[in-house]
Amino acid sequence: MLETLPVVHSHPDPRHKPAIAQKHELRFWLNGKPVVEKNPDPNESLIHFVRRKGYTGTKLGCSEGCGCGSCTVVVESFDYATQKVVTNSVNSCLAPACSVDGKHVITIEGLGNAKKPHIVQTVIADAHGSQCGFCTPGIAMSLYAAMKKNPHADEHAIEDAFDGGI
Ligand code: FES
Repeated sequence: MLETLPVVHSHPDPRHKPAIAQKHELRFWLNGKPVVEKNPDPNESLIHFVRRKGYTGTKLGCSEGCGCGSCTVVVESFDYATQKVVTNSVNSCLAPACSVDGKHVITIEGLGNAKKPHIVQTVIADAHGSQCGFCTPGIAMSLYAAMKKNPHADEHAIEDAFDGGI
């Protein structure tokens, strides 16, 4: 069922920033929309940034990047060596917001919602894969990244993708 993983949406080409970056500006794509932040705080973490922008589906749990995975988002970037888009799951509690300059960040809101869930959300719900629900957005993002990397990932590979989660 996951072999035909749909693209979240027609995400922008990560080779192109929303516009020519100016000094002291952070520019990236967030759920397919351009974001421009003037004078970004170099100490602000990505989770605080996305939550401040209203994407509160990404949760802050342990805040240590090594325990709960509830803060997981997906970051897409362009690998010039292979000329391909690279998809990674990232613990947004550890990543500085400035580290995603020129990249595409996908949060759980960009994946899908109750009315129009992404297939990975449907699979998690159908398999009763949620516990209290707090970390479920992170689980969904980890699964999405794993399946984007390898649409034919076996059970073991998917389990590995959940290593950073509770
Ligand atoms: S909040 Fe727990 S890993 Fe980031």
